[in-house]
Amino acid sequence: MKIFSGTSNRPLAEAICSYLNMELGQVEISRFKSGEIYVRYQESIRNHDIFIVHSLSHPVNENLVELMVMIDAAKRASAKTIHLMIPYFGYARQARKKAPRQPISAKLFADVLTKVGAQRIITVDLNSDAIEGFFHIPVDHLTALDLMIHHIENLAIPNPIVVSPDAGRAKMAERLANRLNAPFAMLIKGQSHPHEAKKLQLVGDVEGLTPIIVDDIIDTGATVLNVVNELHQNGALPSYLCASHGLFSDDCINQLSDNPYIRQVIVTDTIHHQLEDNPKFTILSMAE
Ligand code: R5P
Repeated sequence: MKIFSGTSNRPLAEAICSYLNMELGQVEISRFKSGEIYVRYQESIRNHDIFIVHSLSHPVNENLVELMVMIDAAKRASAKTIHLMIPYFGYARQARKKAPRQPISAKLFADVLTKVGAQRIITVDLNSDAIEGFFHIPVDHLTALDLMIHHIENLAIPNPIVVSPDAGRAKMAERLANRLNAPFAMLIKGQSHPHEAKKLQLVGDVEGLTPIIVDDIIDTGATVLNVVNELHQNGALPSYLCASHGLFSDDCINQLSDNPYIRQVIVTDTIHHQLEDNPKFTILSMAE
């Protein structure tokens, strides 16, 4: 077995290898002046089971092509099996048509990766469980929830309440609430008027409690910032945010850092960020 890393999350690939007590495989990945991607494995992979660690995070389209080129190079170098460890699977939020004439991009890229040569996918907290069924190859769908539960238990937060930002995350939040023996609240999108943003409705009583908001992704931060605001208006204390994947697009890190109603942001290393110096962020490692 050999493990290789794409360019999107080498620190996680190194942490996985360190946990397994093995060396990370050598692969050259570079760009031509035209932007085209060049890949060459620097060691023989003939008849080896190979694992490629690569997150489909920003820049997602670049990372997708890089992964395809890595798979193709591995296939042509006679790898025995090709396993993809995609800690963050981009395009997962496009898993169904919400309006006519839209694509189902998650299905498209499941097909593309399989067609190129992937034989197994290992991934973490897909936006929707249904995506597992988009693949005709085995998918190991891991969760970061146990890691988060362990971390939160150690924080021993007084008077917690677990909050799901929408119905889609209710199952995840319910599991956390049960483990912490804490109450549970949820936000639902209320009726909207044309040209007005949908108003959030809180189901549950958060007054005087410390919310632990659970989501799969923090991207721009708009969802969680809305939720934090609503909870504050309903008398909650500053919140803990937990998400498996911290995409942190645009000015998200500053917005979360500066928000007085956010106590801590807890994410995993499925997407690499340099946040060690920011006391508001805790990064849990999925390497094990
Ligand atoms: C939605 O389906 C997801 O679970 C997240 O709530 C959402 O993608 C977060 O995006 P943003 O941070 O941009 O609001």
